[in-house]
Amino acid sequence: MRMYRSKPEKRSEQRRPKLSERAQDPWRCEADVVEGLEAIAADELRRRLGQDASLQPSPRPGVVPFDYSGPLVALLQLKTIQSVYLVLRFAVPRPRALLGDQHFRNLLACIAAVRSLHPPGAFRTLYVSAAGSESAVMTRLKEELARHTGLEIARDEGDLMLRVRRPFERGEGWEVLVRLSPRPLATRAWRVCNLEGALNATVAHAMILLAKPRPQEIVLNPACGSGTLLVERLAASAAGRLIGCDTSPHALACARANVSAAGSSDRIELYPWDARALPLPERSVDVLYSDLPFGQLVGSHRENIQLYPLILQEAARVARQAAPFVVITQEVRLLETLLAEQQVWALEGVLRVSLGSAYPRIFILRRR
Ligand SMILES: C[S@@+](CC[C@H](N)C(=O)[O-])C[C@H]1O[C@@H](n2cnc3c(N)ncnc32)[C@H](O)[C@@H]1O
Repeated sequence: MRMYRSKPEKRSEQRRPKLSERAQDPWRCEADVVEGLEAIAADELRRRLGQDASLQPSPRPGVVPFDYSGPLVALLQLKTIQSVYLVLRFAVPRPRALLGDQHFRNLLACIAAVRSLHPPGAFRTLYVSAAGSESAVMTRLKEELARHTGLEIARDEGDLMLRVRRPFERGEGWEVLVRLSPRPLATRAWRVCNLEGALNATVAHAMILLAKPRPQEIVLNPACGSGTLLVERLAASAAGRLIGCDTSPHALACARANVSAAGSSDRIELYPWDARALPLPERSVDVLYSDLPFGQLVGSHRENIQLYPLILQEAARVARQAAPFVVITQEVRLLETLLAEQQVWALEGVLRVSLGSAYPRIFILRRR
């Protein structure tokens, strides 16, 4: 029995695969993405990984499978993807067989390849997610993994995350997925201040890409909260100016901490401005992004009825002709109604995303 590989290759039964060899063989990979962002994530995979990645048909929403033959470390740079897993397929009838010597060695080799991408000590705990994860077999699997890796078994989230499951297409065998990073890629190192209602960074990055960032442009982020869109904008490309504003001192303090942790304090400007009355000249901004209050954790529907039209109007005043304005909100009906009542913003597209319990939409507007 051997680990899944796209191009089968003869290898000695006893020899443990080395990372250098692995890097040249296609790995079967799976990207977890926010539902609704699959096409944007697939574009990012193609753009960043080029011919090293061969995208496979998606078996279900939120999953982008691909075969990958480049260095694994490059996958840690992906910005629109929640987590990347390496997928090992074993032609075994039951998970118990994963404990067999060769299968288990293959699994350990994969885990070693993942751990080698990170500094020593980055992984302290392990977690195995599986149907029947408390069964005798799964308990034994966890114990053996803990014994061989020196990691502690976690009750919930672990640094080393494994999933054991049947293949999606209901083929023979079992799959073990090994997450490539001790935290999801969506958990950004720069986020030192967690503001309630902050935007998922992969969604923010997708919004940034939707406006096709250009290096010299002047960017405005009204209602910037903790600065997610601003930091992600700078991660995508340089900008002429990056301006964020928020009326909440707490949100601005949070944004300052995050921007500083991102090492971008000298490139991102933060102001306590009201997005309904900006001290900026008419037609001075090239692109706008906003995560407007959803009216649940932040603000209320009643306040939004007053707030949204004024923000749209003020954004239209400062936007240059043809400037994109990418907006995310859960106040879908309110925004649709307001857009239908005005002429300045043309609606170019809408994307529905699923964030667990929330289903906001991303609206792509353009200044007429
Ligand atoms: C959904 S939160 C933004 C969260 C942000 N994207 C993040 O990741 O932290 C909306 C923000 O709008 C701000 N806000 C509400 N009314 C505003 C106004 N009139 N002008 C500027 N900001 C406003 C709130 O203080 C809040 O921080």
